[in-house]
Amino acid sequence: MFVSEEEILLSSDFIKNGFVKKKAEDIKSLDFIKSQLENIVLSYEGFKNTKNIDLENIHDHISPENLNDFRLYCINQISRNNNLRFSYYKVFKKFTDLLIGNELAMQKKLNLSIQLPNDNSSLLTIHADTWSGDSPFETVCWLPMVDCRKSMCMFILPAYNYKFFEERYSELKNKNSNDILESLKDKLIWIEINYGEVMVFNQNLPHGNIVNSEENTRWSFNCRFKSIFTPYKDKKLGEFFEPITLKATSKVGLNYKFPS
Ligand SMILES: [Fe+2]
Repeated sequence: MFVSEEEILLSSDFIKNGFVKKKAEDIKSLDFIKSQLENIVLSYEGFKNTKNIDLENIHDHISPENLNDFRLYCINQISRNNNLRFSYYKVFKKFTDLLIGNELAMQKKLNLSIQLPNDNSSLLTIHADTWSGDSPFETVCWLPMVDCRKSMCMFILPAYNYKFFEERYSELKNKNSNDILESLKDKLIWIEINYGEVMVFNQNLPHGNIVNSEENTRWSFNCRFKSIFTPYKDKKLGEFFEPITLKATSKVGLNYKFPS
């Protein structure tokens, strides 16, 4: 294998643990994403007379009943801002280059997750994305907009514990998610992560979150990347994914027709 020492170490972490968490290097792009998000929040009609907003305390302004409307507004504004998506790619570029490849397909729309304290409407119970039709070649790049501690953390079954799940799969497959979580709870890890850090995780491993019982609102983005020429399943190229770094020889190959 002709790969750098850095790639060997990062890849081995990713394969063994199922995720890597590192300090963001492109702080400028990261701060741009956060400031754009804050501007979007401030443009929501409920904040017309507000100058500054603290994302962690958004629950002082947004009730669980209004959360869906507010979230849809934010997602809609985010999807119109192509600079935001480009900055997202730049924040993760080093990791996508080392872990996925240099011909990438990126999700067309960034996902935004907002978890108000004690609100159970934004739960992602234990699941692997492949259980609901995602290609195992997809990787999730997860970006916190606030510090995430305790119940604000995402949990994952690390790859080194996956065998435990596989060996019990036949008994677990008909159980509900609470029972699956209970069976796996001693094998999970909870990933504490701060603003300024980035995480890339293997969505083929069981993962999820629980009710945020901290005092702060959790804000995070997530976005899928995959190598363009890997197999697709429900999330198709052109519909869900878009090529962002297609190389010249691939363009030449895709356009080639043998003369007839
Ligand atoms: Fe997931």
